[in-house]
Amino acid sequence: MSDLEYLAKLHRPPPEILIELEELGHRDGIPIVDRAVGRLLSTLVHCMQANRILEIGTAYGYSTLWMATAMPPAGHLWTIDPNRERTATAVAFFTRAGVDEKIDVINQPAVEVLENFRHRNLDIIFLDANKEDYPAYLELCVPMLKRSGLMLVDNLLWSGRAAAPPSASDEESTRAIRAFNELFLAHPLLDATIVPVGDGLGIGARVE
Ligand SMILES: C[S@@+](CC[C@H](N)C(=O)[O-])C[C@H]1O[C@@H](n2cnc3c(N)ncnc32)[C@H](O)[C@@H]1O
Repeated sequence: MSDLEYLAKLHRPPPEILIELEELGHRDGIPIVDRAVGRLLSTLVHCMQANRILEIGTAYGYSTLWMATAMPPAGHLWTIDPNRERTATAVAFFTRAGVDEKIDVINQPAVEVLENFRHRNLDIIFLDANKEDYPAYLELCVPMLKRSGLMLVDNLLWSGRAAAPPSASDEESTRAIRAFNELFLAHPLLDATIVPVGDGLGIGARVE
């Protein structure tokens, strides 16, 4: 048995509603975070008692639900995704899970939203959207974090494409992820690391 198989068996299964959402995402070909990333998001939200969370990339709300169900009762989560069809499914799941009143879904491209987003002192910003804009999102988001707030970013290994030897035929998304990883790890306001959980999760704490 591999380490990952061992760990998958060792953890208790997620709540039924999250399993249902995983199955729906896989059935419809919607990319969602790995279950191990979902668990880690939940643990981080719990340990920080994160009250103010911003997510970029909602889709069916799988990662949103892991975070929203770990937030304290007064917590609030803003999640951005221009795809209304996907977020309609997400909202139906938020309602069933009893967390819909804590969540604002914003159906616009994230750069537009971030340029006018007035909330500051955020505890966590979770980035899981179109990879081409990751470098721009980083610059817009870090100033919105409180000191010691976390910037979390999914897909930094990009299914092995980030680590593969660079080639002229690389997709724009692969180039963007590689550029992002360098920016992220060298960011002057962050103590940042990338851990090989799921498809690679960036974790950066705002230190200044
Ligand atoms: C990987 S999925 C998000 C998965 C979700 N975080 C989860 O784990 O359940 C990426 C989402 O980013 C959204 N997206 C694409 N372009 C975007 C943009 N410009 N701003 C915000 N979201 C965008 C897509 O519509 C898609 O639903």
